[in-house]
Amino acid sequence: MASLQLLISNPGPSSFHSSLLYTLTSLHSFDRRAVKPIKPNYKNYNTTIQSVIQWNRKPQLAGDTPRVVVITSGKGGVGKTTTTANLGLSLARLGFSIVAIDADVGLRNLDLLLGLENRVNYTAIEVLNGDCRLDQALVRDKRWSNFELLCISKPRSKLPMGFGGKALIWLVDALKSRPEGSPDFILIDCPAGIDAGFITAITPANEAVLVTTPDITSLRDADRVTGLLECDGIKDIKMIVNRIRTDLIRGEDMMSVLDVQEMLGLALLGVIPEDSEVIRSANRGYPLVLNNPPTLAGLAFEQAAWRLVEKDSMKAVMVEEEPKKRGLFSFFGR
Ligand SMILES: Nc1ncnc2c1ncn2[C@@H]1O[C@H](COP(=O)(O)OP(=O)(O)O)[C@@H](O)[C@H]1O
Ligand SMILES: [Mg+2]
Repeated sequence: MASLQLLISNPGPSSFHSSLLYTLTSLHSFDRRAVKPIKPNYKNYNTTIQSVIQWNRKPQLAGDTPRVVVITSGKGGVGKTTTTANLGLSLARLGFSIVAIDADVGLRNLDLLLGLENRVNYTAIEVLNGDCRLDQALVRDKRWSNFELLCISKPRSKLPMGFGGKALIWLVDALKSRPEGSPDFILIDCPAGIDAGFITAITPANEAVLVTTPDITSLRDADRVTGLLECDGIKDIKMIVNRIRTDLIRGEDMMSVLDVQEMLGLALLGVIPEDSEVIRSANRGYPLVLNNPPTLAGLAFEQAAWRLVEKDSMKAVMVEEEPKKRGLFSFFGR
């Protein structure tokens, strides 16, 4: 029977983990796209692992700037903020100027993931009220000065009356016309749900990254959100499938990325494995993509960032199981 298996594996034992990382990083020197099957170096781990490799060239920025990208999902807790932080810093490391807007008004936490919480003195609300300038509300990252964070409001506050899509469009326009020039990317971290906060967050966007996990509740919300994005005129929607565990997929306890893609019918920007480093790095306020040596999830985010720049996508592959060897008795069966 054919089994569906998937790209980047959950780390197995450390020897396997490090060999995969080694192969991924050592292939940086290839000046082309390569899809390279990597065989794990121990016997029982019989999954074929494939990964799209990084290229040793500067990615070509597709489309007009600033590219306003909303990171959304419908369901909460699937990895929108993690994705915003890691895509944002990957893009900054690739040399693009980034403004990340935390539009999750009630449950703001992008500042925490970036380790910038103590630097947020002003928010977009104060800018709109005329209490401060826009550049005072923009928090520059300590590691990558071409990455800036803008929070909409203070933590635990409700979406203020009168703050809606138009206000966000005004902010995006103000970012475009700053004296230092328009950013290359404006990433908007969207709140969960499909109410006012969601509508506000998607209003200025012209493309979307839909984050989903391979479970039925997340997929149903993602499907609903896809419909709403399309109604809003956002046609460029790509998905990131997060928290993949190949051990569960193999045991048919988790949907494969191919299944997810068939259900949602969206182009695939990236596949992120379940990785305890994600949680560790969130607690340290140090996004995963900055880790050295890199982790599997960090590399997967970097590759997704690369594809975002080039408006590229990846393929989920179906790997056929090796045909079973015929035994002596099968000879008589034919
Ligand atoms: N690939 C992953 N592996 C392990 N934990 C993850 C992964 N992605 C996200 N998480 C964890 O899931 C939780 C929710 O992530 P978060 O980005 O805050 O989701 P959202 O913004 O969609 O609510 C966090 O604790 C985060 O560390
Ligand atoms: Mg969030």
